Amino acid sequence: MVIYFTGTGNSRFLARSLAAALEDELVSAPELIKEGKAGDFKSEKPWAFVCPTYGWQIPRTFRRFIMDSHFSGSLQAYFIMNCGSGTGNAQKGIEELCTAKGFEFKGMAEIKMPENYIAVFSAPDEKTAEKLLRIGEKKALKVAELIMAGENLPEKKSGALGKFLSGPVNWGFYRFTIGDKKFRVTDKCISCGKCAENCMVNNITIENGRPVWHGSCIHCMACICRCPVQAIEYGKHSVGLRRYYLE
Ligand SMILES: Cc1cc2nc3c(=O)[nH]c(=O)nc-3n(C[C@H](O)[C@H](O)[C@H](O)COP(=O)(O)O)c2cc1C
Repeated sequence: MVIYFTGTGNSRFLARSLAAALEDELVSAPELIKEGKAGDFKSEKPWAFVCPTYGWQIPRTFRRFIMDSHFSGSLQAYFIMNCGSGTGNAQKGIEELCTAKGFEFKGMAEIKMPENYIAVFSAPDEKTAEKLLRIGEKKALKVAELIMAGENLPEKKSGALGKFLSGPVNWGFYRFTIGDKKFRVTDKCISCGKCAENCMVNNITIENGRPVWHGSCIHCMACICRCPVQAIEYGKHSVGLRRYYLE
């Protein structure tokens, strides 16, 4: 079973490729998370978890979802993490998660995809994004071949920098960067409510026709990148930046 977590669609794109190649079931974790549910999953095929990298680790919300979910059938777990530049030492955290869940860790693949983190960085132009998607798709198919063969994914080694990024920097990232105080809405807002609809953690409500953020944002960038009229900004940083969302 292929279970994905996504804010802006990259992970779903890879998960769909994997599920098609593996002829396996595809599950959206954000849909369950939005309903406040954990999963109760059963599969005789290996588990393939697909997600973005948040602060050089798997997103905490996805980790919690996996921890809270119940899995029966196969014990083998593969992880496919996509990123804008790198995953640091995320593998260590994943191995610990596997131990906690009683999974046999079958490896982690790192796949570079178009950057979505426009609160801090910027998204690539359309041509570059398209190129990355094609390369990403090929890599996902290679991963699918290894899964079908029952093999482990190639080991990913991490040096001191990766350990630093996935350790103290990840801690500081969640403590100081993730938050919704800088989100604001401009006069372009058409009160469509899509931002609230697309927020998987139900952190946005519409009040007087405008979105209001309530302090439990996970920075997935769905609200800002999926606004149909680009009416959401993140401080001054996002002004004029291309929004990135993959259907
Ligand atoms: C909150 C947040 C943190 C991120 N941290 C990292 C990171 O540590 N390393 C990295 O290479 N990319 C990072 N990115 C980029 C995403 O991992 C990347 O754009 C990913 O493809 C987005 O996947 P999605 O479209 O499935 O949400 C971050 C993005 C967000 C929104």
